[in-house]
Amino acid sequence: MARDIQNDAMKIAVFGAGSIGVYVGASLLAAGADVVLVGRSRMRLQIAGQGVLLSDLEGRRQHLEGAHVPYQESAVALAEADLILVTVKSADSAAAASAIAEYAKPSALIVSLQNGVGNADTLRSLMPGWQVLAAMVPFNVVQMDGNRFHRASGGELMIETCAGLEPWLTSFRMAHLPLQQCEDFVAIQWGKLLLNLNNAVNALSGLALKSQLSQRAYRRCLALLIAEALDVLRAAGIRPARIAKVGPQLLPVILRLPDVLFKRIAATMLKIDPEARSSMWQDLEAGRLTEVDYLNGAIVRLAESLARDAPANRRMTVLIHAAEQGNLQPWSGVALYRVLRD
Ligand SMILES: NC(=O)c1ccc[n+]([C@@H]2O[C@H](COP(=O)([O-])OP(=O)(O)OC[C@H]3O[C@@H](n4cnc5c(N)ncnc54)[C@H](OP(=O)(O)O)[C@@H]3O)[C@@H](O)[C@H]2O)c1
Repeated sequence: MARDIQNDAMKIAVFGAGSIGVYVGASLLAAGADVVLVGRSRMRLQIAGQGVLLSDLEGRRQHLEGAHVPYQESAVALAEADLILVTVKSADSAAAASAIAEYAKPSALIVSLQNGVGNADTLRSLMPGWQVLAAMVPFNVVQMDGNRFHRASGGELMIETCAGLEPWLTSFRMAHLPLQQCEDFVAIQWGKLLLNLNNAVNALSGLALKSQLSQRAYRRCLALLIAEALDVLRAAGIRPARIAKVGPQLLPVILRLPDVLFKRIAATMLKIDPEARSSMWQDLEAGRLTEVDYLNGAIVRLAESLARDAPANRRMTVLIHAAEQGNLQPWSGVALYRVLRD
């Protein structure tokens, strides 16, 4: 492993080390940063036994021995950290904030690497006195074959502009995770949320992302959800940023194209590992609650705050909640579209 590329005094902790946390934390570790992962016993035991294999779409395969990946179950491990990356699911943000506030140094910089639009605010409200930054992970990470953490799509990390990031920029760059600093982060978060509306479509399709997005019937479902979300955002005066190659307003138009045209025009949207699925599908498969209330549900709540309705996203939220209760059968794109629209 590369060593000592940064000041030894600077320590990074990842709180809630699952798919994203292990990928980001182990990548930083492999690049020589001083990192501790904090999470659950199941993950600690697995990593201790098999280590971590990092892979990506460009052919990276890097194995870290378990003994070289510090993984702790107690938040006490946060006490020395100068930078804390929060990678729990949205529903766990409040509990994470309490645990972090108990042990973190007041000078530690806290970064939310979560999807959704409210997690950094939740952390800020429960951790007064700490500096909290919102960041956005554009790529998917899939845990495969036990110890393999595979980056299944592309894109660079984005983060709120902050002078306090300066000491960390080299480590992230060396870890092949350059941080792109952005001013208007609310726009970035809503732009990402529009893309995350596909998580639910993918979860209900039962298909890999590439296969699901290759079928117009499912893309029409996503186009319906995004078009409705864009209406709500417009009414709220929010201008979502462009996260994909295609701008937000064009997304529904491109998604509705016939398969042949879509594959030609939006080839980059299909540059995904053939096995990759949304984390919402993984949650349903594992019998866990999903983040639907923080994604499609955020559109529904924003609409309600404007005395409007967002029926397609509301119906999608209901369908995912039913799937969380065990009613998990794959939907055809045509049947799903009918239910979302009617
Ligand atoms: N996976 C992706 O491809 C991807 C891509 C972009 C963004 N994101 C976002 O990144 C965030 C994390 O996603 P993920 O897929 O990495 O989730 P994940 O695999 O479920 O990882 C989160 C981990 O945190 C653990 N955890 C929760 N509360 C904890 C606590 N109080 N103390 C210690 N550990 C705790 C969870 O354990 P339990 O499950 O046992 O509670 C889980 O192992 C989400 O907001 C997601 O939307 C994910």
